[in-house]
Amino acid sequence: MYRIEKDTYEKYKVIFSDGADVQVPEYFKGEYLETFFMPEQDGQGILYVGTKAKFPLLAQEMKELGAKTVKTFAKLGIREFMVEEPTVCENEEAFGHLILGCLLGASQMVDYKERTRKEEKEMVLHLCADGVEKEEKIEEADLLCQQILFARRLTNQPANLLRPMDFAQEVCKEAEERGMETQILDVEALEKMGMGALLGVGKGSQYPPCMAVLTYKGNPESTDVTGLVGKGITMDTGGYCLKQRSSMMGMMGDMGGGAAVAGAMCVIAEKKLPVNVTAVIPMAENRVSGGAFVPGDILRSYAGDTIEVQNTDAEGRLILADAVSYAVRDCHVTRVLDIATLTGAVVSMLGHLYTGVICDEEQLWEKMKTAAEKSGDRCWLLPFGRENEQMIESHVADIKNMGGSTCGTISAGLFIRHFAEQVPWIHLDIAGTAWNDEPIYEFQEKMATGVGVELLYRWVKEF
Ligand code: BES
Ligand code: ZN
Ligand code: ZN
Repeated sequence: MYRIEKDTYEKYKVIFSDGADVQVPEYFKGEYLETFFMPEQDGQGILYVGTKAKFPLLAQEMKELGAKTVKTFAKLGIREFMVEEPTVCENEEAFGHLILGCLLGASQMVDYKERTRKEEKEMVLHLCADGVEKEEKIEEADLLCQQILFARRLTNQPANLLRPMDFAQEVCKEAEERGMETQILDVEALEKMGMGALLGVGKGSQYPPCMAVLTYKGNPESTDVTGLVGKGITMDTGGYCLKQRSSMMGMMGDMGGGAAVAGAMCVIAEKKLPVNVTAVIPMAENRVSGGAFVPGDILRSYAGDTIEVQNTDAEGRLILADAVSYAVRDCHVTRVLDIATLTGAVVSMLGHLYTGVICDEEQLWEKMKTAAEKSGDRCWLLPFGRENEQMIESHVADIKNMGGSTCGTISAGLFIRHFAEQVPWIHLDIAGTAWNDEPIYEFQEKMATGVGVELLYRWVKEF
């Protein structure tokens, strides 16, 4: 919890330094993220935070410096201090990132402890904002922080506290408050429309699937519409292809893509970007029951293609197939992005640091590269060839939901691409980056990272 004051505050402040300045105390070497607190007379004090590094201080590093600053002050019991623009900023966005890091560092994860929950105390950040540009950066950082926290909170909610319909309602409420049009396709609507893939996945749960659709029209004159589609599995047990218990635990977070899309939409709308964006978030629980889908089942997708289910744990691509079809056919999007915690294979390949990307149009990837540079998210473009398409050919149906024994991230992506039809498509597999058992960066916490909120906002901004 934080409050921003746009003024100066002399009592406590931070100085970012590589240790070379004359004024810094000699105990302080200025190594990256090193901290040293120097009490001064009259109860004042300066916190030194080190910036000396062998790598450039880009977005992630600025965010880390910000988060480290706030957390260090908090540990010292200091809840009110000033942050000025440091001299280490390498590019124009850097100040914004520093502030975003501060704000994330000041925010505590929601927990369910009844007896030992730490009372959340407010942090007061005095930010010197001289000039409209910096004011704008502070406001943007504040919006991004709010939505990253929103996405994290949704993603972290366990299955029993957030069913598919709860997820849809929460997302729509936030979207409506920001002037978006919203619609929830409930299970009856999905049945009427023939969304057999989404229904197939959701059938094993007593909490039915649904689909949230958010429309933002920032440029009504244009027919250009960007589609953002996010996987919203509130719990993935694997279904009859049951997961091992060790990998089932984090699967309350299998909605990280959907949460990122919702968060990004809210930032886009608040910033009134002059673009049209439609978000489609299919939501379901993948469970076992007497009526659940099983391997061998044939599902009829919304697009009319039949799908052979070879593995009930490859449910993400199934629900995304219908959602992408809906975006393309009903929302008339002119480009489509999907984002999903889709494959374990991407975690084996790129760990928790890089998001795996697949794309069939150069321009979409170019803009993603720019967005990723600006947000600091690491993205890696994966290859694919026409030959990979054979991996998802089925003997009995139009397509199957499993590839071969290799390159699982690519075959999963290509399955979704099939449903984008002729529309330019880009795909983000965030199975590794949406969730951390241990945080990688100072501005993260355990569990959901909120990845995608800033990245999608910056990507959409590029159009
Ligand atoms: N939600 C999982 C992917 C996942 C794995 C997310 C690890 C986060 C961390 C997805 O639905 C899944 O189970 N994928 C299978 C696909 C396979 C059966 C083809 C996988 O990756 O094992
Ligand atoms: Zn699965
Ligand atoms: Zn899943």
